[in-house]
Amino acid sequence: MNARNRSVKRIGVLTGGGDCPGLNAVIRGVAKPAHDYGLSVLGILDGFEGLVTGRGMELYNRDVSGILASGGTILGSSNKGDPFHWPEGTNGGTIIVDKSKDALRNYEAWDLDVLIAIGGDGTMSIANRLSQMGMNIVGVPKTIDNDLQATDQTFGHDSAVFVVSEALDRLHTTASSHHRVMVIEAMGRYAGWIALNGGIAGGADIILIPEIPFEWEVIYNHVLKRNMMGKKFSIVCAAEGAKPKGGEMIVKKIDEKRTDPITLGGIAELVASNIHENTGLETRYTVLGHLQRGGSPTPFDRILSTKFGTSAIELAIKKKFGRMVALKGTEIKSVKIEEAIARQKLVQPNDQAVKAASAVGVSFGTKDL
Ligand code: F6P
Repeated sequence: MNARNRSVKRIGVLTGGGDCPGLNAVIRGVAKPAHDYGLSVLGILDGFEGLVTGRGMELYNRDVSGILASGGTILGSSNKGDPFHWPEGTNGGTIIVDKSKDALRNYEAWDLDVLIAIGGDGTMSIANRLSQMGMNIVGVPKTIDNDLQATDQTFGHDSAVFVVSEALDRLHTTASSHHRVMVIEAMGRYAGWIALNGGIAGGADIILIPEIPFEWEVIYNHVLKRNMMGKKFSIVCAAEGAKPKGGEMIVKKIDEKRTDPITLGGIAELVASNIHENTGLETRYTVLGHLQRGGSPTPFDRILSTKFGTSAIELAIKKKFGRMVALKGTEIKSVKIEEAIARQKLVQPNDQAVKAASAVGVSFGTKDL
């Protein structure tokens, strides 16, 4: 029987792209009700890599017990498994090929009625293309970056913000003891949400984000002014994508095998070194890196992930395919996946959070706000 016409009996679930806290809570939120509905659940391993290469494991009720609070993903994940951009090793090096037909073949061989794809913008773009090839897809929005326009929040973001906030609390005490300027580098790629929200929560004095290019002089003046006021330390929270006016983001590495080939990094070191050279103040920098993606999800993320997972299975059963669950206000709704990937959600300079931070004296490194 054509999987499109029969009632939903078997679902596949995968976690794609970079991991984040809350993935296991979503898998649990999908699988537990699915079992109650009498459906069988196939966990696809390592994101789309497993879909292309045919690697999966049956997920039974016992497999999803006790995983609510655990970080990472029991299924594994990858940001190199794009079926439409598949790196294949040859004698002459690596070539990029299209393996989407293999993905479709495995979907059919596994007898799946629907695939629940948990991931960020890259995963949703791939899911959208697979859906155009005939797969039934339901999406769940994940990313610490919080840069998906169609949902008020992605799960994982709150946990990353918690890590930044806690790190800033710790840096405050040592910055204060040594009268230093401490610069922290937060993740977030092209969006500044983690640095902005983490910076506000952790009481940063300067927040630098990609959406608001900074001026070096404004940064130097801000830390010097604080120093003259008797505030002997300053905390700078910089997003990895922050850049000076007229400048570019710092690209650390390019790897064409990845869905997004660019790895960012290095801004905190540069900011710390320039502040030292231009103000004479002692500086140190800390790159938080993957600490922001590891560990247990916050209660907010556990709740959101559970709501997302259970709503995704409802959509699947109602055969509302090609849709992604989304938080709108306090409710979980759904949007078309193609709508979800149409536009990236970036910080607007007039965002309430930017205004609130400015009102309590935070500098965004510019006179323009
Ligand atoms: O998209 C999530 C994210 O953590 C970004 O904030 C960061 O730029 C990127 O992934 C890092 O990717 P990787 O784990 O491949 O280094």
